Amino acid sequence: MAAAPLVLAVLVVTVGVAAAMAEGGKLRQGYYEQSCPRAEQIVKHYVERHIPHAPSVAATLIRTHFHDCFVRGCDASVLLNATGGGEAEKDATPNLTLRGFAFLDRVKALLEQECPGVVSCADILALASRDAVGVIGGPFWRVPTGRRDGRVSIKQEALDQIPAPTMNFTDLLTSFRAKGLDLADLVWLSGAHTIGISHCNSFTERLYNFTGRGGPEDADPSLDAEYAANLHRTKCTTPTDNTTIVEMDPGSFLTFDTSYYRGLLKRRGLFQSDAALITDAAARADVESVAKGPSEVFFQVFARSMVRMGMIEVKTGGEGEIRRHCAIVNS
Ligand code: HEM
Ligand SMILES: *[C@@H]1O[C@H](CO)[C@@H](O)[C@H](O)[C@H]1NC(C)=O
Ligand SMILES: *[C@@H]1O[C@H](CO)[C@@H](O)[C@H](O)[C@H]1NC(C)=O
Ligand SMILES: *[C@@H]1O[C@H](CO)[C@@H](O)[C@H](O)[C@H]1NC(C)=O
Ligand SMILES: *[C@@H]1O[C@H](CO)[C@@H](O)[C@H](O)[C@H]1NC(C)=O
Ligand SMILES: *[C@@H]1O[C@H](CO)[C@@H](O)[C@H](O)[C@H]1NC(C)=O
Repeated sequence: MAAAPLVLAVLVVTVGVAAAMAEGGKLRQGYYEQSCPRAEQIVKHYVERHIPHAPSVAATLIRTHFHDCFVRGCDASVLLNATGGGEAEKDATPNLTLRGFAFLDRVKALLEQECPGVVSCADILALASRDAVGVIGGPFWRVPTGRRDGRVSIKQEALDQIPAPTMNFTDLLTSFRAKGLDLADLVWLSGAHTIGISHCNSFTERLYNFTGRGGPEDADPSLDAEYAANLHRTKCTTPTDNTTIVEMDPGSFLTFDTSYYRGLLKRRGLFQSDAALITDAAARADVESVAKGPSEVFFQVFARSMVRMGMIEVKTGGEGEIRRHCAIVNS
């Protein structure tokens, strides 16, 4: 009896993936070959010239791409400034991300010089993320292009649709499936936490009064006790600290590698959402396989999942527009 709902659930999920990926199917590699032949090269050169001096921007770029895709599809809505009183998706993201916005604005300006009105901000974000990962030691992959830019950005949608660091495995998988992604995508895309930083208040819930017993040592038992104690004694010394930042993959937070997964197995994933990946048998098996394998294996599956993420609900053809400035819609 129990089998019937399961089969149904699997079917629904499969159909959901097919729908999201069908839109992605309208993208193609080398979309700008005729209309702006140097487009990809211009992005790559800019990234290669500047990321070595500011490697932390790589993390900002890839996270911005993720947030863009999870809200209204990969349409650069995350880059829009708020207008007329309302707050935009941008206003739901931490301040540091701003450096990524300025970086993208400069790339866009170069492309507007080369081919005005041709290359979308959504494609620039996908390409720059890919190139930045390459510069900090990660894989290269071909990015299908042809995305068009959206005209709407709403803060509340970002708050509702971007998964929270407090989520358990079930809720994370639900969030990813709602975007046509699957368990493997969840495991591999979370590997982006091999780079970058977090503000304390994104995870202090795990350090203080986690079980409600109170007391100074009441941390999440799924977090390595020594690591937890070190975090709350030396870094995040109050539960509400929203300014101190912590490396998410200590020791190699500027390098794209597999150490994030080894950290998970040592129970040193920073967020509950990271720790959740080893609470599910299938996900844990994936984590274990890349943690010990050569990084090429992770690189391949990560690249594949990035392409899938980059196809979420994209606008193509006559939809949307090619924004002239990434922070404002064309008038
Ligand atoms: C699985 C669900 C995910 C959750 C709950 C999550 C949550 C978070 C949180 C809370 C932060 C720290 C923000 C701060 O306090 O400053 C963060 C940082 C980051 N996330 Fe995720 N994330 C998830 C998936 C992803 C994905 C899919 C990617 C990209 C493919 C990604 C890339 C990053 C990067 C690179 C950073 C560091 C940003 C920086 O250094 O500026 N995350 N994430
Ligand atoms: C968008 O907002 C930022 C920060 O408020 C501001 O610095 C920037 O000039 C704005 N961009 C445009 C094109 O209005
Ligand atoms: C950071 O965010 C705060 C509150 O949202 C805002 O007041 C401040 O201006 C932001 N900092 C920068 C550099 O934009
Ligand atoms: C996951 O968290 C949700 C609440 O956010 C809760 O309803 C659910 O029971 C949790 N699932 C598991 C398996 O713990
Ligand atoms: C710890 O959590 C419990 C249960 O939620 C609460 O009653 C108590 O006031 C909290 N203690 C502190 C110090 O926040
Ligand atoms: C950080 O917390 C302080 C005090 O609670 C608050 O005034 C400020 O707006 C917060 N800043 C950010 C960026 O959330």
